[in-house]
Amino acid sequence: MLYIGIDLGTSAVKLLLMDASGAVLNTVSRSYPISFPHPGWSEQDPRSWREAVLGGIPELMRGFDASAVAGIGAGGQMHGLVALDSAGEVIRPAILWNDGRTSAEVEYLNGTVGRAELSRRTANIAFAGFTAPKLLWLRRHEPENFARISKIMLPKDYINYILTGVHCTDFSDASGTLLLDVEHRRWSPEMLSLCGVSEAQLPRLYESYDCVGTLLPEIADALGLPRTVRVCAGAGDNAAAAIGTGTVGGGACNISLGTSGTVFISGERFGVDPNNALHSFAHADGRWHLMGCMLSAASCNRWLMEDVFGSADYAAEQALIGSSRLGENGVYFLPYLMGERSPINDTDARGVFIGMTMDTKRADLTQAVLEGVAFAIRDMLSVARSLGLDIRRSMLCGGGARSPLWREILANVLGIELDIPVSEQGPGMGGAMLAMTACGEYASVRECCAALVRVKERVLPTPELTEKYARRYEAFRRIYPALRDVFRDMAALENASIGG
Ligand code: XUL
Repeated sequence: MLYIGIDLGTSAVKLLLMDASGAVLNTVSRSYPISFPHPGWSEQDPRSWREAVLGGIPELMRGFDASAVAGIGAGGQMHGLVALDSAGEVIRPAILWNDGRTSAEVEYLNGTVGRAELSRRTANIAFAGFTAPKLLWLRRHEPENFARISKIMLPKDYINYILTGVHCTDFSDASGTLLLDVEHRRWSPEMLSLCGVSEAQLPRLYESYDCVGTLLPEIADALGLPRTVRVCAGAGDNAAAAIGTGTVGGGACNISLGTSGTVFISGERFGVDPNNALHSFAHADGRWHLMGCMLSAASCNRWLMEDVFGSADYAAEQALIGSSRLGENGVYFLPYLMGERSPINDTDARGVFIGMTMDTKRADLTQAVLEGVAFAIRDMLSVARSLGLDIRRSMLCGGGARSPLWREILANVLGIELDIPVSEQGPGMGGAMLAMTACGEYASVRECCAALVRVKERVLPTPELTEKYARRYEAFRRIYPALRDVFRDMAALENASIGG
């Protein structure tokens, strides 16, 4: 039997074909545009996801036996607000996870409704990228669109809706809406009424490994797949990546270096960070997890390489960094190109290079970006450590994990061992594994992880370099607090000039 995993990312959809032994037989990637209509806003047309998936699957299957496909599972970018009208048509572009327009709504939720009350209802507080503040924004700024909403869903749910006609979501992705009572795995009636939406507009909730339906006949025929293909509920991309890297069970950790950067800590039981700096979400294995998310990780490197240097050869740029330079760079970078979520929760924060001299070379800037992202991941790990979570080893996935230099920097900045799985395509692997479980290949997601996930390399930190980076991290930590008010005033200036 064959399984298709879908990773509905921010820059592209990555499709993966897997056999029952877990071998990846083929992959296809199709990119789509993202638009930033105002500074800090981030939108995408869900129809471009649909075209990429429906166009990509036949390409993925070329040369393989399509009649052997048994299941499809998707992991998708989280939090995005997808709104459909009563005819099932997209009302407006999706407002994505890294969109910062809702600072007023976040202030209202965390300030007026109150952090403690939100945490009691949902196990989380409001962050600009979460779905509930976007609903409040839409109700206020686009009332005519808000009034037309028949169905609300998350990005990968839109794909499942196109494939099966079923309006569904899973608990891991629903956790990031701020509409879910995460502990009890049900929609929060109080949050729904606060946002002016009804349960009928929301998707039906499933575990990630539940089968939600089979392909619509016309879709199956168009894709050349059997009509019997089962589609599972899937997961938010981070929970899917955790499955794809075998991050299940108490205390297991996965770090993702994708467009966003995340630290994902799996748990056996429900638990909340008392300061809500880490999100408390449902996991795709039926349990729970804690997670920190930085908004720009590998995307900072992409920005510097492609938009600033005009260079597509990342490896050549990184080859300019001599190994003796590790832990010695006097240039620092704050990776807040889209504002920041974990742990500072500041939509006004911006990217910064600091510490340049007349000697500063291109390679120092490249290195500063790789290190700045690693330091920001350490910020999130520090929060986990402050909660008593003793993390000494983590899986590492995402596009950034392909760089040996970045792996080495990260292992030493964090002072932990990093395990690199055979496939760095965490969410696609996880999606296919959830589909396998939904089709009965394995009795549980955990059994599937134990059988299929393999580590190909372990990156070990060295005491000397870890020590050097510990000192550099102390310097890094002081930059943001020193600039916080500057960022706020700069944002006020920008808003005033947009307004007038
Ligand atoms: C997680 C988050 C990001 C997106 C990226 O909370 O916002 O990791 O899921 O796709």
